[in-house]
Amino acid sequence: MNFPLIINVLISVCAYLMAKRIIPAMGDMFIKANLFGQDLCKKDKKKIPESQGVVAGCIFLVATFIFIPIPFSYQQIVDKKEFPHEEFVELIVALLSICCMILLGFADDVLDLRWRHKLILPTVATLPLLMVYYVNFNSTTVIMPKIIRPLVGMSLDIGVLYYIYMGMLAVFCTNAINILAGINGLEVGQALVIACSIVIFNCIELGRDSTARTYQFSLYLIIPFLAVSLALWKFNRFPSKVFVGDTFCYFAGMTFAVVGILGHFSKTLLLFFIPQIINFLYSFPQVFCQVPCPRHRLPKYNPETDLLETSKTTFHLDKLTFLGKFFVVLFKTLHIIQWTEGKDGTITTNNFTLINFILYLFGPVHEKVLTQMLLGVQILCTCVAFIIRYPLAGYFYDT
Ligand code: UD1
Ligand code: MG
Repeated sequence: MNFPLIINVLISVCAYLMAKRIIPAMGDMFIKANLFGQDLCKKDKKKIPESQGVVAGCIFLVATFIFIPIPFSYQQIVDKKEFPHEEFVELIVALLSICCMILLGFADDVLDLRWRHKLILPTVATLPLLMVYYVNFNSTTVIMPKIIRPLVGMSLDIGVLYYIYMGMLAVFCTNAINILAGINGLEVGQALVIACSIVIFNCIELGRDSTARTYQFSLYLIIPFLAVSLALWKFNRFPSKVFVGDTFCYFAGMTFAVVGILGHFSKTLLLFFIPQIINFLYSFPQVFCQVPCPRHRLPKYNPETDLLETSKTTFHLDKLTFLGKFFVVLFKTLHIIQWTEGKDGTITTNNFTLINFILYLFGPVHEKVLTQMLLGVQILCTCVAFIIRYPLAGYFYDT
């Protein structure tokens, strides 16, 4: 029986109850502070309090601050071990990175930062984490898959590239959730599925070796995250009473990156991000300005049918960059975009997001159904991730 984990669950239940009370109570305060958004997929575009991720994030921080002394005093008093300075620093620095990201996410919501800042900020917030990784582990060796071992050997020390990879992981996790967004409940919904996948994965690994402290560490953070996100989901799901803002997307992404890096399962973590990876690859031409990208790429609401349709972007093929032309033609050949040619030579396609792609495949659907479909895809991909991680991993690695 893991005593600190039981206390963690109890604190998380309290955090859930607290978030459930505080989030709706703070709605008016947010609107008064001009922190609101309009639900673009509804007939009446009323003010909805935005950036409520900051409330969830603060409750998460309070819960974890209260929890910090538990595992360490338990180890000293009951297990009579020496004070684990390394583990303590890891937990503190994990919270520092998450705290930084909540602050930066909130700044983004208030100031509407440019895209290049969205890439720089998570990198900066990961620096303390990478520093602790350097001091505590500094393991930059990657175990090679069986097929390429004859060429490169059993493992490869990639040195500084490993740190660049970890920094990029944080940038990816934070932004990937933010660009798969725009319909009620999707940001929190996907974060909940990923968090549940991490909990299941950690429990499986702890079942194999109950002393594996990296998985315990991961659970200490993910369980309170799950609790506050669950409370937020109650108000953010269709029809949204609150919006979570970029604050939540950054908070969630950083929490995942932190547990993946310090828990040493960053590759498995990426398996839980399959829909986000697909959405990122599909979005690439628009996010990197090779194809015109409107401020909002969320689906278009049709007030007559009350259904969501694909949102569109229009361009002249000749005016695109070489890379832009390449991607557009590739997507057309693969039949993964809607393609309409106007008389004046303009091309109209759907915006390149997974949400629009689902609409392209299945036609206009209701917002609630669309969120369910996307979360269904997320759950399906989690199942695929577990199949790759367990039965299939044996073909590539020694398990
Ligand atoms: C990202 C996306 C953008 C998408 C937006 C929606 C990219 C490059 N950017 O931008 O295409 O439109 O997220 O979140 O992919 N909103 C709703 N219903 C919801 C959630 C949000 O109408 O369920 C609208 C509200 O007006 C809200 C706004 O989206 O105020 C929030 O957008 P914001 O998070 O600021 O957009 P970005 O993250 O910059
Ligand atoms: Mg956003």
